[in-house]
Amino acid sequence: MFHQSSRILLLLSAIALPAAAVAAPSAADIAAGKSIAFNRAEGNCLACHVLPGGTMAGDVGPDLTHFPFKIVFHNRQKLVHFLYDPEKTIPHINMPQFGKNKVLTHHQLELVADYLWSLQK
Ligand code: HEC
Repeated sequence: MFHQSSRILLLLSAIALPAAAVAAPSAADIAAGKSIAFNRAEGNCLACHVLPGGTMAGDVGPDLTHFPFKIVFHNRQKLVHFLYDPEKTIPHINMPQFGKNKVLTHHQLELVADYLWSLQK
């Protein structure tokens, strides 16, 4: 009986480890991601999307204020992949290929993803 429960504990810690290895984004990362998203010369997401606190937002793309990021993308890495090359997920999408066309670096895309992820409580 003792052996069995310690085995289960071992198994549980093996499952919990990879999740713990992915650090939660810091407030600074989220703020940096927001500034990239809002900057007209960087992400310029406001050209096509409404985001909380953003001004003069376009409506070519969906309003992202209440977008279910966690349901649609499951994890931040999938959101980074989408931003890298949206065409791969949604063919013919009228959204810049931020990573593929080197508009934003991989690190910048990760910061933007941290920011978007933080919008859904
Ligand atoms: C030129 C316009 C344009 C810009 C700039 C733009 N997008 Fe989009 N985006 C779109 C359009 C159009 C869609 C909707 C495509 C559809 O649903 O068919 C979209 C969809 C999305 C979606 C939802 C994807 C889904 O699975 O439904 C997310 C998230 C997103 N954009 C994030 C961003 C972020 C973050 C930025 C800035 C880094 C950005 N977009 C910049 C046009 C744009």
